[in-house]
Amino acid sequence: MNRPLVAPSLLAADFANLQRELELINQSEADYLHFDVMDGEFVPNISFGFPVLEAVRRHCQKPLDVHLMITKPDRYLEDFAKGGASVIHVHYEACTHLHRTLTYIRELGCQAGVALNPHTPVTELEDVLEQIDVILIMSVNPGFGGQSFIPHTIRKVAKLKELLLANHSSALIEIDGGVGLNNASTLLNAGADILVAGSSVFGAHDPLEAIRKLKNSWQPLVA
Ligand code: DX5
Ligand code: ZN
Repeated sequence: MNRPLVAPSLLAADFANLQRELELINQSEADYLHFDVMDGEFVPNISFGFPVLEAVRRHCQKPLDVHLMITKPDRYLEDFAKGGASVIHVHYEACTHLHRTLTYIRELGCQAGVALNPHTPVTELEDVLEQIDVILIMSVNPGFGGQSFIPHTIRKVAKLKELLLANHSSALIEIDGGVGLNNASTLLNAGADILVAGSSVFGAHDPLEAIRKLKNSWQPLVA
């Protein structure tokens, strides 16, 4: 296994010192900055939108991994692409015409991601795998940072990995919610490629060190 990709989640950053937080991310070994958009309808919380994305884009040198926790995301895809998103994740549960939505994200020049709530089986994606670049498995119910990791997610990641291999799909598996050094290696062994980490990075005494440790968190399974 190569080193995992790491995507610190801005949701856990100090918003009063955003520029300082972004400089920290720029200096770090992080591969992306994860940007959580919540609309107060798809999830019971509201986070941030375009003005913040624009400000972040000006200072952040890492690619932006945009996680849309919003209903009818098609309305805003173009704006997020223009706003500088590299990856756009829509929620499976928020899309009536997922194939069309994913095709559109790629047409906009972004990587197409699909996020799955904890209750949504991975098999729901079987018929759109060719349209997907990244699958974001939610390991908490979306809406808030700092929640406890749902252990069943580990089996779900393993199942998704099997599904991808069986279908010769090169889509990456990203995991989001309650991820930290305590579960990173298990998730990587199950098949995860990208670790999203909010509180375990920004809540750490030394966030740079926390990111470095996540990058080096994989340990082989002992037979
Ligand atoms: C939750 C968000 C996550 C969140 C993760 O709805 O999608 O990206 O920021 O935060 P932690 O790592 O604190 O669980
Ligand atoms: Zn997220």
